[in-house]
Amino acid sequence: IELHARAAIDAAGDPAALDAVRVALLGKTGQVTALLKSLGGMDAEARKSFGAAVNALKNTVAEAIEQRRAVLDAAALDARLAAERIDITLPARPAPRGTIHPLSRTIEELTALFGAMGFTVKDGPDIEDDWYSFGALNIPSHHPARAMMDTFYLKPSGRNRPMVLRPHTSTLQIRTMLEQKPPIRVIVPGRTYRSDHDATHSPMFHQCEGLVIDRGITLAHLKGCLVDFLRAYFEIPDLKARFRSSYFPFTEPSMEIDIAWDRKTGVIGAGSDWLEILGSGMVHPNVLANCGIDPREYQGFAFGMGVERITMLKHGIADLRSFYESDIRWLSHYGTSP
Ligand code: PHE
Repeated sequence: IELHARAAIDAAGDPAALDAVRVALLGKTGQVTALLKSLGGMDAEARKSFGAAVNALKNTVAEAIEQRRAVLDAAALDARLAAERIDITLPARPAPRGTIHPLSRTIEELTALFGAMGFTVKDGPDIEDDWYSFGALNIPSHHPARAMMDTFYLKPSGRNRPMVLRPHTSTLQIRTMLEQKPPIRVIVPGRTYRSDHDATHSPMFHQCEGLVIDRGITLAHLKGCLVDFLRAYFEIPDLKARFRSSYFPFTEPSMEIDIAWDRKTGVIGAGSDWLEILGSGMVHPNVLANCGIDPREYQGFAFGMGVERITMLKHGIADLRSFYESDIRWLSHYGTSP
C-alpha cells in the first residue's frame, strides 16, 4: 500500500488531484482508514503489532501528502508570480503638464512689482456704462477721443444709453475713486476691447491701469514710480526713459513714456531709438471733481500700458495674435511652468 500510495501522491499534478488521492487513502472510506477499522476485529496480540504498522503507514502517507502539497503550492505561486510579472524597467509615460500663459505671467509680475511699491490690485466689469468709460473721464460725447478708440457699443433692450465693452481700463480710475477715499494706490490689469485687428492689434487685449491719489502728489512721483517700474520689469537697472508731452482728456499734463531701444535688432535698452511704452499724466481736476474728490486737497497721477505689448517686447514675441491661438507648441515655448 505504501508504494502504491507514494506513486499516487507523486502523480497528483495539482491541489485538486492531490485532495482526491488523500480522500482515497485517508478519507472515511479510504484504504488506510479501512485498515484502521479492521483492527477492531482482531485479537489483542495481532492488534498491537498490526496497529503500530498501520498507524506508521497512516503517518507516512499523511506526511507525504503534506510534502506534495507544499511542492504544488510553491509551483502555483511561482506560476502566478510569472504571470503577473511587472517590468519596472519600462520608462514611465510622460504626464502632460500645462504652463502659465505669458500674459498671466506678466500680470503676476506687474502685481508683484507694483505690490512692492504699495499698490493693490483692483478689478471691474468688462461691460461698462458710457459714463465710466468716457463722461466721468472728461471725454464729452462730441469728443474725438471717442471715435479714436473704436469702441464696441452694445444696445441692451430697455435702456436709453448704450453700454460699451470698455476700450480702456481707465474706467476703474472712476470706480476706485467713487469707492475708496484717498490715499489710493491701485493697479488694474484687465481685458479691454477695440474694433481693430492686425498683427499689432486685437479686438480683445489687456491693459494695466495705475492710479495714485494723495495729498501733495506731483509729477516727480509719477516719474520716479514709472522709471523704477520699467527698469525692474525689463531687468535693466540703467534703462533710459524719456517723458514726451502728449494729450489725454483725463490727465493734465499728459505724457507718453518712451524707452531706449534699437529699432534694427529690437533690443531694449540699446541703440539710439525711442519706443513708446506707457501713457500717463496727472489726474485732471475735472476727473477728481466728478468722483467727489476736491482737487485743491488731493492730487494724483494715472498711467496705462498694454500688457501684450510689454510682454512681446520682453520676450521677443512677433505677432500679437499668437497670444490667443492656443497653439500648444507656442504655449509650451513661451509659457512658464507653474
Ligand atoms: N487710457 C489710455 C489709453 O488707453 C492710457 C492712459 C491711462 C493714459 C492713464 C493716461 C493715464 O491709451
